[in-house]
Amino acid sequence: MTEKSNDLTGAVAAALQKVTANLATFSDVYPHDHTVHNIYPPRKRVDGYPAGSNVGWTTGFWPGMLWLAYELTGSPDYRQAGLMHIERFRQRLADEVDVDHHDLGFLYTLTCVAPWRLLGDTTAKDTALQAARHLLRRYLEAPGILQAWGSMDDVQQRGRAIVDSLMNLPLLYWAGLESGDAHYSRVAFRNACRLRDHLVRSDASTYHTFYFDPVTGAPLYGQTEQGATDESCWARGQAWTIYGFALSYAYTRDAGFLHAACRVADYFLEHLPQDGVAYWDLIYTDTSDEERDSSASAIAVCGLLELSKWLPVEAEARRYRAEAWRIFTSLYKHYSTAGLPASNALLLQGVYNKPGGEGINEGNLWGDYFYLEALVRLTKPDWQLYW
Ligand code: GLY
Repeated sequence: MTEKSNDLTGAVAAALQKVTANLATFSDVYPHDHTVHNIYPPRKRVDGYPAGSNVGWTTGFWPGMLWLAYELTGSPDYRQAGLMHIERFRQRLADEVDVDHHDLGFLYTLTCVAPWRLLGDTTAKDTALQAARHLLRRYLEAPGILQAWGSMDDVQQRGRAIVDSLMNLPLLYWAGLESGDAHYSRVAFRNACRLRDHLVRSDASTYHTFYFDPVTGAPLYGQTEQGATDESCWARGQAWTIYGFALSYAYTRDAGFLHAACRVADYFLEHLPQDGVAYWDLIYTDTSDEERDSSASAIAVCGLLELSKWLPVEAEARRYRAEAWRIFTSLYKHYSTAGLPASNALLLQGVYNKPGGEGINEGNLWGDYFYLEALVRLTKPDWQLYW
């Protein structure tokens, strides 16, 4: 056994132990976005919804972890637990509970596209197609973007695009292929192009969000929500772009997305501290007292591995795979909860929203999901995407 395969075996066993231990706690209630003192409580009560409700943008990550655990083990316990979420997400969409934002891709890819792909579950497929249709309501034709947040007539939010959307576009690409309606793919492609052309700066760093004129489509200005400043580079946003452009390439084979993915990946890698785990904003370096965002590095590992699949030059692909391994090993050895029974998370030291004072130096659901996805990708190199 090599050192790498030893690490993988240990990491998989430790991660599955956490997922299994969480099965009973989170069967009827959803975990909160992030841990509190390294423990996930049930999702906090919000806007009249009781604690543990299926609201917010992160509740799909837990079912996503269940599908990954099912793929790693074949255990019917994970499959049964994953299947229960399909009906809940179908009902959420039918009741329109907190579904008017761009994050339907995160929610419905992991809860519904995944079981459709894995098991051919037709309720899951129909629900994911309905979610894709719902997401199209946010499309603004002139700027060619999905508006990130707020109602479509909200003057503060109108015409605002966001880099995170790159991870929501696969739901539309998938719906285009599944339904035969090219409009879905056209919207996803146009949105990805606009993000590539206006949210990626000339040095390959990225704006978190960017305003376009909703009537003329003209690009206006960038603004951050979760980064340090409007002109800095929020680490998780940069990680979303690595994975997101690689996925847009996978669906469209447009060389511009592959080129963009390489550029943003190189910027991310060049701005990592020595141990490979990003500070929450890439302006911070090794001498900083700021917190890491382990989730940004977990997302980047998945993005680098996806990107490496598509590069025609093997030496380039190998370089990104090697970086993915380096970052993953650091996450496992220094940021994971392997051997830490006190936490029910998989990965510690994430940051949700530093300027907003939320989830700082805590585990979070998407960090856990992408850490587990990275483990699956490394364990099963022929893994078929949920995205
Ligand atoms: N998509 C929201 C975030 O990354 O915090």
